[in-house]
Amino acid sequence: MELSWPSLDRLPDVADALRRGWTPDHTRGEAAAREALARIGRDAAGYVASLVDREAKGPPVGLPDGTTAPRLPGYVRWIWDGAFCGFIGFRWQPGTTELPPHVLGHIGYSVVPWQRCRGVATRALRLQLPDCAREGLPHVFVTTDPGNVASRRVIERNGGVLVERFVKPVAFGSAPGLRYRIDLAEHSPAPTPRTATKPARAA
Ligand SMILES: CC(C)(COP(=O)(O)OP(=O)(O)OC[C@H]1O[C@@H](n2cnc3c(N)ncnc32)[C@H](O)[C@@H]1OP(=O)(O)O)[C@@H](O)C(=O)NCCC(=O)NCCS
Repeated sequence: MELSWPSLDRLPDVADALRRGWTPDHTRGEAAAREALARIGRDAAGYVASLVDREAKGPPVGLPDGTTAPRLPGYVRWIWDGAFCGFIGFRWQPGTTELPPHVLGHIGYSVVPWQRCRGVATRALRLQLPDCAREGLPHVFVTTDPGNVASRRVIERNGGVLVERFVKPVAFGSAPGLRYRIDLAEHSPAPTPRTATKPARAA
């Protein structure tokens, strides 16, 4: 399984998943799927390019109540295992682990219904964490709903520690949420080995 950068050649599988009823945003449901399909129909290349936005150049982000909020730097990768399995996304504020109130966590993911319960999300999060460490963050926050048992297991299997129960902002329906922290020290990419210096030859 790999985390694949969005590309035009793999886009038809993603569009197919959207048509089959998968939504990339479970808080916005079907509306998010319809919106993505419409964007793909209008400008496929633009849609693919918009998924990687490290400078937060894109338009404001849509929230579940229909309001919008400023975008953070971030990117989405497609979870690929011979076929499209879902996505995992990462967004962050450079230089801090803090997030604005409208961004519930650093990482979001969704697996297409027909690939669930195979360990896909657990492995995808494991693959994502070293790349979060590469951005210089000591830890990330991941939030989920108390009733989302599968997502809680995904986070816990990746070292997530429950730090608080909280109430989501009004734009998210003031629903209860769980905030986990995942320390990235053990996920830091291994340093590149230095080339061994040849011992000086004896004269
Ligand atoms: C949450 C989600 C990403 C999990 O994806 P997945 O690939 O099926 O997860 P995994 O196969 O890695 O399973 C993780 C764990 O959850 C368990 N699990 C999976 N589905 C479950 C379910 N419906 N009920 C209870 N447990 C479940 C698995 O048994 C596994 O437990 P284990 O580690 O103890 O064996 C997927 O259900 C999904 O896309 N849901 C909709 C979007 C969403 O909720 N995203 C998370 C937002 S925070």
